[in-house]
Amino acid sequence: MTDESWRDRLRGLRVFGGELPAFAPDAVPENPLALFSEWLDLAIESGVSQPHAMAIATVGGEGAPSARTLLLKDLDADALWFATMSTSQKGRELAANPRAALLFYWREQGRQVRVTGDAEAGPRALSESDFLQRSPNARVVASAGNQSDVLPGLGEFDTAVAKSRRAIETDPEFVPEGWTAFRLRPVAIEFWQATRDRDQIRLRYTRQGEGWARELLWP
Ligand SMILES: Cc1cc2nc3c(=O)[nH]c(=O)nc-3n(C[C@H](O)[C@H](O)[C@H](O)COP(=O)(O)O)c2cc1C
Repeated sequence: MTDESWRDRLRGLRVFGGELPAFAPDAVPENPLALFSEWLDLAIESGVSQPHAMAIATVGGEGAPSARTLLLKDLDADALWFATMSTSQKGRELAANPRAALLFYWREQGRQVRVTGDAEAGPRALSESDFLQRSPNARVVASAGNQSDVLPGLGEFDTAVAKSRRAIETDPEFVPEGWTAFRLRPVAIEFWQATRDRDQIRLRYTRQGEGWARELLWP
């Protein structure tokens, strides 16, 4: 640890160092998922690290929020897809309250996208194909125990994983019942761009009937 206080050390850190992409909020598509796919495409093509990693916040009993990182699995004209265990904390919370928030942060580009909407399970066949496309090790671990349950110790983990590995070798098509591909249908999406001249630009789309309303927000 240095003599500097955390306050000084943190204030000294640079936030947006490199070149920032342009953002013209008056020249955007009607559908925010079209703009999202443009931004995601640029993030991937520009080499942003883990551009498909997103935070997802769910709501538990008594309104308590909880957040964790997941991977975006797919994108269509109406929804964002992710996959997880329905028996996990987030899975149980979504079953009781489907309202969720997603957050993408593409730091190399000074971009943030906030999404809110309701999440629901997709067709079973999609959950199964998603699971079978995971790496062998991820499948073994996900099949070994219930995600988010308390694990007594790493010894118990190793024993359960060894058993699961044998079971999956015998039945390579095994998919745990709880593995679920969820679709989140946005009701609002905000695009945030750091800029050199205006500091930041915020554009929010809000679902209105069959279409979308757009408005700028004060930073
Ligand atoms: C980069 C990254 C990607 C992750 N992707 C997933 C994922 O796609 N599905 C998943 O269930 N957990 C994923 N995790 C683990 C979750 O963050 C979390 O630990 C797990 O889903 C249990 O969450 P819960 O107890 O809140 O339900 C990922 C973690 C990281 C850091």
